[in-house]
Amino acid sequence: MNDSTIKIRLMKAEDFDAVVAIDEKILKSPRPEYYEVKFEKLFKSKDYLPASLVAEKEDGTVVGFVMGEIYMGEFGIFQEEASLDTIGIDPDYQHKGIGEQLMNEFMDHLRTVGVNKVNTLVDWNDSKLIHFFSANRFSPSKTINLERSL
Ligand SMILES: CC(C)(COP(=O)(O)OP(=O)(O)OC[C@H]1O[C@@H](n2cnc3c(N)ncnc32)[C@H](O)[C@@H]1OP(=O)(O)O)[C@@H](O)C(=O)NCCC(=O)NCCS
Repeated sequence: MNDSTIKIRLMKAEDFDAVVAIDEKILKSPRPEYYEVKFEKLFKSKDYLPASLVAEKEDGTVVGFVMGEIYMGEFGIFQEEASLDTIGIDPDYQHKGIGEQLMNEFMDHLRTVGVNKVNTLVDWNDSKLIHFFSANRFSPSKTINLERSL
């Protein structure tokens, strides 16, 4: 598969089922509630600009997605930072460069609206995902996430 067979487009509310299905295929357990909250925020909130994309085949089947947020501050001024919350490629379509293609389009999209930094949180033990982000030019930030168990 090469780039010309996969189209990247902005995510629509109707992509909900496809996104939940891909996530379930990856995690082997469904979590529609998680995406209900995210889609609600993405499509109904006025405080966030859409920054989520899907990768679809020529027949319209969605095979991957990336979800992010650009916070729109007071008076419609954009923050210069955005977050990448979730990325998922249908396991049957992984290792074909679709993740990289989605990531590149995501960055281009953010750049055009003035974002100059994107952050994301990755599980330290998820070496595959860390490798993917590193290959896509992410590096550890200077702030660290602290926590305390209660
Ligand atoms: C991490 C993830 C996004 C990567 O997506 P992907 O489409 O497989 O990514 P790419 O194909 O761009 O790159 C993956 C690897 O394939 C390689 N690759 C790219 N094009 C290739 C091709 N045509 N042939 C062979 N390998 C290729 C890349 O070099 C890369 O190799 P590397 O890992 O050694 O660097 C995907 O594996 C995924 O969704 N994982 C689960 C993520 C997750 O848990 N998300 C939370 C729940 S949704």
